[in-house]
Amino acid sequence: MNIEKYLDLAYDNLAKSYSPYSKFQVSCVGILNNGKVFCGVNVENASFGATICAERSMITNICVQGEDPHNLETIVIISNGEKICLPCGICRQTLVEFIKSDTKFILANKHKDYKIYTFNDLFPLPFDIKDLNV
Ligand code: THU
Repeated sequence: MNIEKYLDLAYDNLAKSYSPYSKFQVSCVGILNNGKVFCGVNVENASFGATICAERSMITNICVQGEDPHNLETIVIISNGEKICLPCGICRQTLVEFIKSDTKFILANKHKDYKIYTFNDLFPLPFDIKDLNV
């Protein structure tokens, strides 16, 4: 896996973020097990709660292109901030629907410094489909 290549792509996409309110640009790249790559950016709204995060924008992009987010293998998240960009709680919950506990997360800051985590590191005790077994 060429991490730098995906970091560069995610970084270049930061400019597509629509974030006039927070000025915090986030870009997410998802790589499927068939090698296909999908992008997402955060899209803000004057009604702040209507904002879509980059990770969820990436998931919808996969669906719209006719692919299956269950095939996600690696996820890259970058922001224009100094700290490496962690996915928010809502996005972790969205992602648990599709990905495995060992799915790799490459989390980066605006300098492209990065750390690698598994989803289990980020969200160890999720509520998911198994918990709906009444
Ligand atoms: N944001 C994301 O896109 N992903 C996250 O996981 C964290 C937060 C966005 C939402 C909002 O546009 C901005 O960052 C500030 O919260």
